[in-house]
Amino acid sequence: MTENRANSKLYSHWWMSKGYTLGVIWFSHACVWQVPNSILHRNHRDNVGQNHLTVGPGNGYFLGKLPKDTPLRTLHLLDLNPACLEITRKRLGNRFDVRTAEQDALKPWPVEPDSLDSVDSHMMLHTVRGKDMWDKEPLMAEAARALKPGGRFFGCTVLGKGEELRINPLARRFLDLYNSQENTFCNLDDTPEDLRKVLEKHFSAVDFRVVGAVGVWVATK
Ligand SMILES: C[S@@+](CC[C@H](N)C(=O)[O-])C[C@H]1O[C@@H](n2cnc3c(N)ncnc32)[C@H](O)[C@@H]1O
Repeated sequence: MTENRANSKLYSHWWMSKGYTLGVIWFSHACVWQVPNSILHRNHRDNVGQNHLTVGPGNGYFLGKLPKDTPLRTLHLLDLNPACLEITRKRLGNRFDVRTAEQDALKPWPVEPDSLDSVDSHMMLHTVRGKDMWDKEPLMAEAARALKPGGRFFGCTVLGKGEELRINPLARRFLDLYNSQENTFCNLDDTPEDLRKVLEKHFSAVDFRVVGAVGVWVATK
């Protein structure tokens, strides 16, 4: 399996602060992957706890839209790409106590076992290297280790194949293109069945569904 490496061209300061929200969050989520952003907003709003860790925050868009009365206080950000950490810290540092870790999400996380109320990973597992979802299992294992009993791991990811998925012609083109580019997507063999099974292996209750080409979940430790 290839190592996960930072990609400063794809996750550049300019793109993450100027283009990402429009090009990816507003356009691709709806038109390519067919997942309404209302689902991602609800996932964040309904499941985030006081001491929370986000894996791959991007530009912090969804965390930035949490309502005023959110329970979130301490926000750990874990990301391979420094621009994502900097932009999200700048966006949210005046609202939350933000702590950052620049590292691969498949490596052990710098948090104590049973210490977090919640963990999220939205639209990032499809960029993680691996021949299929089982190679990405260390991320789920770390989330389960770091959460308190009853804590929640919630997120979503673009999947590459499976009968339940709705892969429209645009999604087909983008999946093939991004998987052929160096260090971009790596998800052609990520399936809904494997994702559900990996989650069920590490969590006591799993609510999983497919929306468009995306697997969406809330898992409880
Ligand atoms: C497509 S963006 C998603 C951003 C955000 N979660 C959202 O939903 O808007 C993927 C994020 O995951 C990060 N990332 C990709 N691979 C990673 C890895 N192996 N370890 C940690 N972070 C990673 C990227 O730097 C980026 O912040």
